[in-house]
Amino acid sequence: MNAVSPPPFPPPMGLIAEITHRCPLQCPYCSNPLALEPASAELDTGNWLRVIDEAAALGVLQFHFTGGEPMARRDLTTLVQRAADRGMYTNLITSGVTLDDRAMAALTQAGIDHIQLSFQDIDPLENDRVGNYAGAFVKKRAAIDRIRGAGLPLTLNFVIQRHNAGRVGAMLDFAEAMQAERVEIAHVQYYGWGLKNRAALLPTRAQLDASTDLVEAARIRLRGKMVIDYVVPDYHASRPKSCMGGWAQRFINISPSGKCLPCHAAETLPGFDFPTVRTHSLAAVWDSEAFRRYRGTGWMPEPCRSCDRRELDWGGCRCQAFAITGDAAVTDPACELSALHYLMGEAALESAVPAPAFAYRKPGRPRAAVALDQAGDKSRAPVLPDPGRASA
Ligand code: SF4
Ligand code: FES
Repeated sequence: MNAVSPPPFPPPMGLIAEITHRCPLQCPYCSNPLALEPASAELDTGNWLRVIDEAAALGVLQFHFTGGEPMARRDLTTLVQRAADRGMYTNLITSGVTLDDRAMAALTQAGIDHIQLSFQDIDPLENDRVGNYAGAFVKKRAAIDRIRGAGLPLTLNFVIQRHNAGRVGAMLDFAEAMQAERVEIAHVQYYGWGLKNRAALLPTRAQLDASTDLVEAARIRLRGKMVIDYVVPDYHASRPKSCMGGWAQRFINISPSGKCLPCHAAETLPGFDFPTVRTHSLAAVWDSEAFRRYRGTGWMPEPCRSCDRRELDWGGCRCQAFAITGDAAVTDPACELSALHYLMGEAALESAVPAPAFAYRKPGRPRAAVALDQAGDKSRAPVLPDPGRASA
């Protein structure tokens, strides 16, 4: 009798298309690799259109356009329109600094379903300093009006680190005032540039606890009105996050040059030969050895193997396990059941000493600092409706 083959793994829910690494901002926590892919290596329009068609055929429901800054690609609206035509939910993840009237109209015409707008801080000067882009906050604030004017749902994303953790309350108030459907209060995740700048970014445990209290109170106050997503830094956790919903279980991530990854940081892992859409179909990618290696629970060592959370957090993050322990195949050290959990505690001590300066992609005096010096105190003029109380 022939052996019965296992049923095929369900298709990915979402495809994360990093269509470019180019970006006008230089956030020191960017999760993109330290060596960015140049524009000359990017997939061309025809290849992206083929990928979009294959995604729809595979059963992908959501198509996320991200980067870098996806609006740096001139063919963005062509790609959005194809994904919308193929029936997928289209999401644009953007800094918003180039989302002018014309771009907004073109995206609406192309059929964009949702826009997620990132902020570096609720304090305009700090926002501009962190992204190293003078005037970014004013442009982002204007982008909100354009998104609202187009009748699109709005998600605001605030990235939290030690310099802005005290303003989480003001961020929540701002999101409420903007009538955002959703706000993400997302602590920095330490990959790529975030790992390089960890000592400059990691909040203290007390800062994290204060943020958590504010988020929990706001969730009660705003229930039914605004969804609040909250992402914490693993360095102060006792259990890891379910990274990407489990390795290669829900998403395919495609780099600007077409490399297919189970997550944005997987290129940091040695010993992989990640497939590319230049030579592989998406169906073949989803069934490739690289995608199957840490999928599910079969690969797990103890203590994950016999843990009742193994199908909740899937053993945590492979990239964090490698970054902290040098071995991607061990339990995420964020888990207190890991024998290597102490390594996270040691790293967390960085938050207790004065923060070093940010390392930016482009060395030299930060552009934002130069512009702010030239503007003097006038640049602190309010550009917002009152964002409300400053948090503890
Ligand atoms: Fe998750 Fe593994 Fe820790 Fe259990 S032992 S909580 S599965 S990381
Ligand atoms: Fe790669 Fe978590 S970022 S598995």
